[in-house]
Amino acid sequence: MTHSSLIVIRQEHRCLSAMLRSITLLLREHRRHGTLPDFDALQAMLFYVDEFPEKLHHPKESLLLFPKLRGRSVRIDAVLDQLDRDHAHGECAIRELEHALLGFRTMSGTVQCEMRRDNFEQLMRHYADFYLAHMRIEETQILPLAESVLNADEWAELDAAFLMNRDPLAGHEADEPYKPLFRTIVAALHGCGNVGSVLEAFTGTALPMFSDTPPPRRPRP
Ligand SMILES: [Fe+2]
Ligand SMILES: [Fe+2]
Repeated sequence: MTHSSLIVIRQEHRCLSAMLRSITLLLREHRRHGTLPDFDALQAMLFYVDEFPEKLHHPKESLLLFPKLRGRSVRIDAVLDQLDRDHAHGECAIRELEHALLGFRTMSGTVQCEMRRDNFEQLMRHYADFYLAHMRIEETQILPLAESVLNADEWAELDAAFLMNRDPLAGHEADEPYKPLFRTIVAALHGCGNVGSVLEAFTGTALPMFSDTPPPRRPRP
């Protein structure tokens, strides 16, 4: 049986993953053409990451799911400790990223433009790699463990909490107040030809992203 809370977690992972990959691709395209990115769109994309994955998704895992899995083995507790540290680090990292984007935007008409672009792109790459690795651990180690050890009462509690408090863009039609945000993000991605994966992720039709076999490591830029 697939539990609602696991469906929500996986859909939210697909959305975050599609968004991170899309921002990276968008930046690469603008660098290749020597053009400035659409700062309003980039700001909207980072706002999405800050507003939902950072403020809704990760706290749900740290506060509701992980405590139910603790105390079963030293190894699993160590993995959960690392994932909790990642969640705390992510909150600081998104602030740093938003500041770097503001710096790039504000200074883009000056001699500092390329230095600011380099700084923002480097932080963005680190943030994306960091969360993709984090979600891979959750999907290959933590979610399968939860499926094998949690009882019906624990699932009922988790399912209720995860369904009540979910990303308003992930896996279904965007909630009304967030439709303009969704349109801004999709319009920006049309320009770099990567709109498909984000749409699939947001509408819940994207394929599962993580398997037990880790993907090849990306070469360092
Ligand atoms: Fe997480
Ligand atoms: Fe997660």
